[in-house]
Amino acid sequence: MNTLIAFYSRAGENYVDGALRTLAVGNTEVVARTIRRYVGGDLYPILPAQPYSESYCECINQAKQDLSRGVRPPLAGPPIDLSGYDVICLGWPNYWNTLPMPVVTFLEAHDLSGKVILPFCTHEGGGFGRALRDLSRLCPGAEIWDGLAIRGARVTLEEETIAAWAAEHLCPVMGKPASGEKA
Ligand SMILES: Cc1cc2nc3c(=O)[nH]c(=O)nc-3n(C[C@H](O)[C@H](O)[C@H](O)COP(=O)(O)O)c2cc1C
Repeated sequence: MNTLIAFYSRAGENYVDGALRTLAVGNTEVVARTIRRYVGGDLYPILPAQPYSESYCECINQAKQDLSRGVRPPLAGPPIDLSGYDVICLGWPNYWNTLPMPVVTFLEAHDLSGKVILPFCTHEGGGFGRALRDLSRLCPGAEIWDGLAIRGARVTLEEETIAAWAAEHLCPVMGKPASGEKA
């Protein structure tokens, strides 16, 4: 099974357990890298051509505006060739109760019909929100498996949960990290 771990994540200022902190690596990227360490797969960051601000307050406003106006922010680089992948492990942070709009751009630019999507998200209390319903609408021909929602502040603490979920879906034997890579 060839797996692509595609994710959108943003480093910078964010609320972590109710307090503003600056993250060197975004929470969703931490989960993506943990999945890769345990079950392998190719990492693919979904990068907006114009990243949202590192300032939390500005980012909140930019993302809300893009959502309410239905903007599809252009992505950096050309679409990725998905033909060699059976499973797309797709990760995002909950933005305003749904998918960040750069993830919508990604989904609309790629044909995921016939693929399995294994979704994961990080959040500050809202879980997936309505993102899974929006995901099914955006990918009508894909098979969407049970997802994992992890609170942003717990992404490093929940390594075992992430590993067990990924292994259950993506590999027959739960074992050691698939590569020697550190988080
Ligand atoms: C623009 C924006 C909107 C957000 N909206 C929600 C929300 O509706 N519900 C929620 O639980 N968390 C929300 N959050 C919190 C993020 O989902 C959470 O901090 C996530 O772990 C950030 O992931 P990242 O570091 O990979 O970008 C929001 C954060 C941002 C920046």
